[in-house]
Amino acid sequence: MSKKEMLKEIKKEVLGFKESPLYRERVKKVVFPVIGEGNHDGIVMFVGEAPGAREAATGRPFCGSAGKILDQCLQEIGIERKDVYITNILKDRPPKNRDPSPEEIEVYAPFLDRQINIIQPKIIASLGRFSAEYMLKKFYLENKIRSITALHGTPVDAKAEYGVIKILPLLHPAVVVYNRGKKETLMEGFYTLKKLIEKCKK
Ligand code: URA
Repeated sequence: MSKKEMLKEIKKEVLGFKESPLYRERVKKVVFPVIGEGNHDGIVMFVGEAPGAREAATGRPFCGSAGKILDQCLQEIGIERKDVYITNILKDRPPKNRDPSPEEIEVYAPFLDRQINIIQPKIIASLGRFSAEYMLKKFYLENKIRSITALHGTPVDAKAEYGVIKILPLLHPAVVVYNRGKKETLMEGFYTLKKLIEKCKK
């Protein structure tokens, strides 16, 4: 099966994922699960927490206010959004944008794990606390878990099933929506990402 077909299969499974505690949210309003989008051969995969209102209304990750910040950061480091893959841990929106629960992370994570093994990114840039913690736990690096402000911008080596990769924990772009002063700190992390990408291309 091609990467496209394997990712399509995940989409099909998520669409029919009635066992999810968040499935009922889909029927209350017209909303869509958000699987992910971007380059299936991308060096970088961004992993956020969960879709927000705009994402659930469109089925696209990071297309609301946090997405605008993410786009600006990518533009500033000269990376095109179409060249990276963007997804979330949860594929459905938690009501009122509350934090994802441990149970929700557990039920949706297998889809993310499969996306990682299909796309095989060399760098996983986690966005926000939940995503950083999930990645560090997934790759048996629990001992590296710190506050997201301490983790932000420091790459960690990890062993994926397909080879050695870098995990780059980043602040969630939404922090800039609420606190414009955090843009500079967020950008520092993106400049580290740029350097990592350049190294991977060598
Ligand atoms: N926040 C996230 O974590 N993911 C999105 O797709 C949008 C906002």
